[in-house]
Amino acid sequence: MTTMTKKTIVSLTKKKAAGEKLTCLTAYDASFAALVNEAGIDIILVGDSLGMVVQGKETTIPVSIEEMIYHASAVKRGAPDAFIVIDMPFMSYNSPEEALTNAGDMMKQAGINMVKLEGGKVQLNTIETLSRRGIPVSAHLGLLPQSVHKTSGYRVQGKQDDEAECLFEEAKAIEQAGADMLVLECVPAALAKRISEALEIPVIGIGAGVDCDGQVLVIYDILAISKGKRPKFSKDFLQGQDSILNALKAYVSAVKTKEFPTLEHSF
Ligand code: KIV
Repeated sequence: MTTMTKKTIVSLTKKKAAGEKLTCLTAYDASFAALVNEAGIDIILVGDSLGMVVQGKETTIPVSIEEMIYHASAVKRGAPDAFIVIDMPFMSYNSPEEALTNAGDMMKQAGINMVKLEGGKVQLNTIETLSRRGIPVSAHLGLLPQSVHKTSGYRVQGKQDDEAECLFEEAKAIEQAGADMLVLECVPAALAKRISEALEIPVIGIGAGVDCDGQVLVIYDILAISKGKRPKFSKDFLQGQDSILNALKAYVSAVKTKEFPTLEHSF
């Protein structure tokens, strides 16, 4: 059993400042949460990806608040001392007031540490409201899975200069509004590096290159459980390992030593 000091926003931000890479994985139940925690992960994300990998749905869009609370409560029971981030489901944060009510319910009922919501400029008021009321917030920029119908699929974002500039400005604005963390999904590695260097809050990448302050992946992808083709930015960490715990430890170590992601997993 590994002994760990309790993670906080301050300790995570200090790690960034010290140049230490942050590790994050999704978990959706108590057993995996306990293993992920034992592997020494910094942050557990109860992602709405559970709609796809646990419930077998096409997208994350149908996931409800009640389902998020159900899974996050299980994660909390499995890893009571972990730093747990929960996704706010699609259409649960249409206004700052609605976000406040729903984020408050998720914090109270599931005991999580931070909420994550998708979007940049459009969410500034919401981020500011949550933050001022004491609710830690992670923004999520780049590929936004909850907007998959609008973007007509899961595509790399910020490839054109004007899009990249827009993403850069949005990242600065969400920090200004009070966000405590940023998840950057599927953006060119050079842009992610620029954003990570410009912000003081931790920038956690998924398909965003090795120069982000940390990495997040979907646990079922790294254990080769997810059906279909694994995304380019992910990797099977179970290969060559004799247990799930050792696969999770291999992921943690590869992120910390910057062996993952390589150019092969980046855009
Ligand atoms: O829902 C999720 O798992 C996520 C990650 C892909 C970042 O948001």
